[in-house]
Amino acid sequence: QELQLNLEQIEKGGYEHFMLKEIYEQPSAISDTFRGRMLADKGIVRMAGVDDNIERISNAKRIIIVACGTSWHAGLVAEYIFEDLARIPVEVEYASEFRYRNPIISENDVVIAISQSGETADTMAAIKLAKEKGAFVFGVCNVVGSSISRETHAGAYTHAGPEIGVASTKAFTTQITVLTLMALKLAKHKGTISHPDFMLLLQEMERIPGKVKLALESNENIKFIADIYKDARNCLYLGRGFNFPVALEGALKLKEISYIHAEGYPAAEMKHGPIALIDEHMPVIVIATKKGHYEKVVSNIQEIKSRSGKIIAVVTKGDEEVRDLADHVIEVPETMELLTPLLTTIPLQLLSYHIAVMLGKNVDQPRNLAKSVTVE
Ligand code: AGP
Repeated sequence: QELQLNLEQIEKGGYEHFMLKEIYEQPSAISDTFRGRMLADKGIVRMAGVDDNIERISNAKRIIIVACGTSWHAGLVAEYIFEDLARIPVEVEYASEFRYRNPIISENDVVIAISQSGETADTMAAIKLAKEKGAFVFGVCNVVGSSISRETHAGAYTHAGPEIGVASTKAFTTQITVLTLMALKLAKHKGTISHPDFMLLLQEMERIPGKVKLALESNENIKFIADIYKDARNCLYLGRGFNFPVALEGALKLKEISYIHAEGYPAAEMKHGPIALIDEHMPVIVIATKKGHYEKVVSNIQEIKSRSGKIIAVVTKGDEEVRDLADHVIEVPETMELLTPLLTTIPLQLLSYHIAVMLGKNVDQPRNLAKSVTVE
């Protein structure tokens, strides 16, 4: 028993929980995802699974992404990135819905299955169905040799290292990293991105691990905010564009480890219903980074403020406008719009972590949840 405990402590590498360790591992996990794949200064992206099938993938009429939970959120971010860079239409499906709704799939479709564990039963079933219908299936998994990685025609590992905490953290950011590299590769091949833009994005990608490190420096500020809102019964998360899926992911993180009800919405959808929930007891976490709908998000913040909602805003470092409106701000470094999810996710992970710890919850093994869901 004692030996077991000590082993676990060693595995946690000095952190109180696996989840915290994994949050802090993200700079190196993202670097590991690049390693051997990206040579930013030379403008090279190498991914064997994509290179070997480049015509098949770049000629896809449509990309269908299938996944569950956090991996589904990574798929939503990827939808924005693939469509923006590679100009291929993308649909993102819950694997559990896709497999049972007699989907229209053709041989011209490419299906991307995203799964940290590579063992999720619904995602596995979706892959089998897509293969039966003749689609090309590409896997994005973390666990090497997992069932999904073996069942797909080709794939790319995230190389995030083992993720023990049930709440997925570094798997999410590394999934986005792999999918961004893939989209860049396809865009270059198809000629939908200019060479200077391609180079700029690669160079900025290389800076992301350092910027994630800077984002982690807000930890004490986030802890302070967590202490104020830990007793909230409900929380709203809002974001737009590339950061809309980050809002969904932030809400999922809070729900699963702190058991506080939370919902994520595209910020503009607020006035179609959720705004009715806002009063002085409702914390609203808004992703309001510069670029990408910034002014529109600012006006959404004003709407919340005029209804006395409590605003916690994730902003670009140095932002003054939102600071004046919000109750609290959490800064992340500036980056290109398309890459902001890799930074804005970090404070939301830390916020749910600290709230759950303060509430005395079992952060690494929340009730009713398993790390991999191998039953449907
Ligand atoms: C995320 O924090 C979850 N615990 C869960 O939603 C998870 O992402 C989902 O079950 C999918 O798992 P997979 O990536 O291993 O397929």
